[in-house]
Amino acid sequence: MGVVNPDAAYQKCVNPDCAAEFDCGQTMFKCPKCGSLLDIWYDWDKIEVPGKLSDFGKRWVNRRNPLDFSGVWRFRELLNFCEDKYKVTIGEGQTILQQNDAVAKYVDMKPGCLYLQYEGLNPSGSFKDNGMAAAFSHAKMVGAESCVCASTGNTSASMALYAHSCRMKSTVFIGSGRIAFGKLSQAMDYDAQTIQIAGDFDDCMRQVQDVCARLGLYLLNSLNPFRLEGQKTIMYRIIEQLGWEVPDWIIVPGGNLGNSSAFGKAFSELKQLGLIKRIPRMAIINATGADTLTELVNNKKLAWNNGKVEQTIIDDYYADLTARDFSPHTCASAIEISRPVNLKKCLRTIDICNGVVRAVTDEEICDAKAIIGKYGLGCEPASAATIAGLKHLRSEGVIEANERVACVLTGHPLKDPNVTVNYHKEKQGKFSNPPIEAPNELNEIIKLID
Ligand code: F0G
Repeated sequence: MGVVNPDAAYQKCVNPDCAAEFDCGQTMFKCPKCGSLLDIWYDWDKIEVPGKLSDFGKRWVNRRNPLDFSGVWRFRELLNFCEDKYKVTIGEGQTILQQNDAVAKYVDMKPGCLYLQYEGLNPSGSFKDNGMAAAFSHAKMVGAESCVCASTGNTSASMALYAHSCRMKSTVFIGSGRIAFGKLSQAMDYDAQTIQIAGDFDDCMRQVQDVCARLGLYLLNSLNPFRLEGQKTIMYRIIEQLGWEVPDWIIVPGGNLGNSSAFGKAFSELKQLGLIKRIPRMAIINATGADTLTELVNNKKLAWNNGKVEQTIIDDYYADLTARDFSPHTCASAIEISRPVNLKKCLRTIDICNGVVRAVTDEEICDAKAIIGKYGLGCEPASAATIAGLKHLRSEGVIEANERVACVLTGHPLKDPNVTVNYHKEKQGKFSNPPIEAPNELNEIIKLID
């Protein structure tokens, strides 16, 4: 364990009819031959992977080494694409998997069965830091100087933080009026150039790809396959905190579908390496106002089909969105996306993990968020879609009350204080906890508390 062999990694096109391969020293975000997504592949024979997952736990005693402290790089043999001298870390991945029986009760699960993975505890307050640690390492390896992303908020906050720690220039594209204030404040504070485009996230995503192509900037959206390698580690840490056991279900919010794509890849590789015996099932949860994945998978029956995805189903669906001038809308602004760039990789995850997809309303998201705040450490709206989705899947009987479920709470509660304050102060939901107005008078105040 420990010998890094970066020559063991290469990039490969996900389209089986193309399957073009490229070395990791190249920077591109789509296959130059056919335009499909790219993956990172490994020649596992050339990598000294530990014989069992628990061997990774031994690194903790050596945590004065920043790579052993990092919740990403202490699993470095499983994302073995660059030498240690390029690896970037700012202490990401010190996250908690909390067993939470009170939230379990809300979703009708048995005590001891529900776990919440708090990715909001990362340095920039969201799961994105896992992916940025990996992608910035690649950026350093290829000598990139300027980076860019389109974002619903968290990607921009995370990229800006890593960029200034790497002394790189960063530019973020955000949709007009679509970004939660906590996230916008971070991008500005971490000194990113922030460009607010008159449009939504999907418009920003389109523009940023053209800008990258013209100006040769380093793209940090989840189209970047190195980012997804970092996001695999969220699954390793869930397994670690379950005593190196695999849960029955992983539940994750679905936006641009980078996380779900990375998680499926993580489990498929662990199984291939013999490090786990079975792959958990996965539920991916959309908001009803941004439910492309749900529509395509559940209603239009779009599937991975060994990589031969029926493109006409996607094209027809997107043409209809355009004809209707559709723009997605949900209070969970992080996942307000209607053309998810990792759609095909996510279909692969659904295949690998026998996955299911559901959409939940904003009301359900806000109520679930209040419950996570009341009984747990809190989260931002998109993260709470997991608990709202679990409630659906329990009432449908898809998930049993005694199965072991891990929900990925992707972002910190302070990311979007407006949604929280409106919910409580304006008494918008079942669990609102508004402030009580009191006169400036001692006896009256005491009466209220009694
Ligand atoms: N949860 C949060 C808090 C997010 O910020 C995002 C995505 C998601 C879930 C969805 O994850 O894209 O991997 O399916 N935020 C991106 C951004 C799009 O720009 O910050 P996904």
